[in-house]
Amino acid sequence: MQQIKCSKDIQAFALESRRAGKTIALVPTMGYLHDGHLMLMRKAREKADLVIVSIFVNPIQFGPNEDLDRYPQDLEGDLAKCKTLGVDVVFTPTNEDLYPDLFQTSVEVKEITKDLCGAGRPNHFQGVTTVVSKLFNLTLPNLAFFGEKDFQQLAVIRRMVIDLNFPIEIVGVEIVRERNGLAMSSRNANLPAREREEAPSIYQALSHAKTLYQQGLKESEKLCQTVSKQLEEKISSPFRVEYVKIYDALKLTEIKGRITTPTVLLIAVHLGGTRLIDNLQLEN
Ligand code: PAF
Repeated sequence: MQQIKCSKDIQAFALESRRAGKTIALVPTMGYLHDGHLMLMRKAREKADLVIVSIFVNPIQFGPNEDLDRYPQDLEGDLAKCKTLGVDVVFTPTNEDLYPDLFQTSVEVKEITKDLCGAGRPNHFQGVTTVVSKLFNLTLPNLAFFGEKDFQQLAVIRRMVIDLNFPIEIVGVEIVRERNGLAMSSRNANLPAREREEAPSIYQALSHAKTLYQQGLKESEKLCQTVSKQLEEKISSPFRVEYVKIYDALKLTEIKGRITTPTVLLIAVHLGGTRLIDNLQLEN
């Protein structure tokens, strides 16, 4: 396994590999790799000749009062995990390399970034689509793998790839959960003991709403209210629900009233100082 730190070198590697007829799968990450990331890598390994994992804590997708400074990092541990999974190249660029002086271009998906995480994090998705476009241009992948925990991010990237004609297949990979149901996230490492114990209540509340849905409760607002109510009952640490909403799973538009199409129940919760997101598809 190689570690490549510089954008010119990774682009030269990718160009040469593509010219030699090799297929490339990219797994973009911000590091502090957990089992969710490892699942992306396993799926990538099955599908391409070469697997590139990028590790870059992208500053432009964090707002001024967000957790950029607290974002957990462990490059050595990450490299060891990548090696075990048979990754070919880990790309670890610096800020100065990706955003040199005079950098001033951004990629924006306009509509589906406005609500949900975009409402609470105004420039977040622009930061994501800008860096992901750069990573696509640098690593020239045939396929790129993203987790479904970031459901809106996945929809935004799919939109961008269609709108900008990137010749890349986007593969969404199911959420990996801890035994207690908590969705795997690098940010879970920032949860103190009590919050960590209570965090699985988020998934339990979503699951409860799904059961009610399957038993016949089809009103969007009522289902969302049951989620908030459950969290109030189960969580004693300070927390705030940023949103709990039901969206059309394909169009990513909010469903109000009676649910008639395939939908997804999405949530963002601030538990103590940590922002957690999760989602569950509602099927009959
Ligand atoms: O999901 C993430 O870890 C990041 O948003 C991504 C896609 C690597 C872009 O920085």
